[in-house]
Amino acid sequence: MPEISWTDELLTGNAFIDEDHRKLTSMVNAFLDALSKGQGNDVLAKVLNNLMIYTRSHFDREEAEMQRINYPGTLAHKAEHTRLLNEVHALKAKMEAGEKVSATAVFTFLNTWLRHHILEVDMKLAAAMRQGAIG
Ligand SMILES: [Fe+2]
Repeated sequence: MPEISWTDELLTGNAFIDEDHRKLTSMVNAFLDALSKGQGNDVLAKVLNNLMIYTRSHFDREEAEMQRINYPGTLAHKAEHTRLLNEVHALKAKMEAGEKVSATAVFTFLNTWLRHHILEVDMKLAAAMRQGAIG
C-alpha cells in the first residue's frame, strides 16, 4: 500500500510548520489507506474533507507568517498552495462524479508535491522566518 514516509530530512526546523507537516502527512496517509482499501465514497469524502480543511488552515498559517515577515517569495509560494488546492478539488469532483480514483496515482501526485514543496519551498520560508523580517 502506498504511503508517504516521514523522514528527518523533511524537518524545516520551524516547530509549528514541522508539526503541521507531520499531521498533514498522517492525514494524507489515512486518505491513501482508505483509497487503497476500496472504502466507499462516503468514507473517502469524509477523510478527504478533513484533509482539505486541515490543509487550508496550514496554508493560512504559513501565509500569515509570510505577511508578518514581509516575505519576498510570497507570490510564488502561495501559487504552489493554490495549485495543490485546485488539484485536490478536481480529485474531489472526480470522486463525487463516481469516477474511480487510483490510490497509486494520488500517492504519486501528493508525494511528489509534498516532498518538493517542503524541501524546496517551505525550507526557504523557515530559513527566512529564522532571520526575521526581510525584504
Ligand atoms: Fe507551504
